[in-house]
Amino acid sequence: MNTQNPIGVFDSGLGGLTVVKAIRNVLPNESIIYFGDTARVPYGNKSPELIKKYSLQITDFLLERGTKIIVAACNTATALALDTLQDKLEIPIIGVIKPGVDSALKLTQNNRIGVIGTISTISSGVYETELKINNPSVKVTSTPCPLFVPLAEEGWLNEPATKLIAEKYLEPINKANVDTLILGCTHYPLLTEVIQEIVSSKIKLVDSAQAMASETAELLMNYGLLNDQNNKGALKLFVSDLPARFEIVVSRFLGEKISNVEKIQLGQV
Ligand code: DGL
Repeated sequence: MNTQNPIGVFDSGLGGLTVVKAIRNVLPNESIIYFGDTARVPYGNKSPELIKKYSLQITDFLLERGTKIIVAACNTATALALDTLQDKLEIPIIGVIKPGVDSALKLTQNNRIGVIGTISTISSGVYETELKINNPSVKVTSTPCPLFVPLAEEGWLNEPATKLIAEKYLEPINKANVDTLILGCTHYPLLTEVIQEIVSSKIKLVDSAQAMASETAELLMNYGLLNDQNNKGALKLFVSDLPARFEIVVSRFLGEKISNVEKIQLGQV
């Protein structure tokens, strides 16, 4: 494998770009190919079988493009499909859950951790399992926030409606006396402001993107795959629907003009 080959990153939509942003900060000379499955977002209320099928289609596409490692920047795909992907792929693939768990366990002081995510991620119980494997005395309060994904995709990051919805969703978190809250969906960091406003200011929010970027760097180093060229890495984006709309949202989010988003059809739903 050539060290100059790109890193593949995927999500159901634009949420995984929170991870792309962090990877580009830590590894500026790595090229990245991103796939956002905008035709089929959200994944969070779909069956495990469908999420596995979609994830396999995406990783096949990324492999065809010569990616040297794959970063599943989607908690739902990580929760439901990472084991299958790791069995099937011949290149390293990492998911977003473990870095979030590790960060939360380092941060908590009262051993009470909250987790918010999609319906599929929360009902898989994967965060609770991982947290308890690493610290059996930790108390976990998990709650799904399904409407956060369409709100983030829509760019409604600070609307009154978003605040009302967040208040309702975050009630159990506020009651549980947690001191750390894992944003267990890569779309949620887009709503950090509203979430922090509604939970106590003492609650530390864990956005796994930063930890994920460090883990990506470590993985590349361990496999001898770090790009040693000094050029700025390229970013190529693919989506399964509405590329023009994605360009607008992504340019706003990454703070740079993105104009080469391409539409790819991966198979029938
Ligand atoms: N951003 C993804 C996640 O982390 C998927 C959200 C969705 O498509 O429901 O879970």
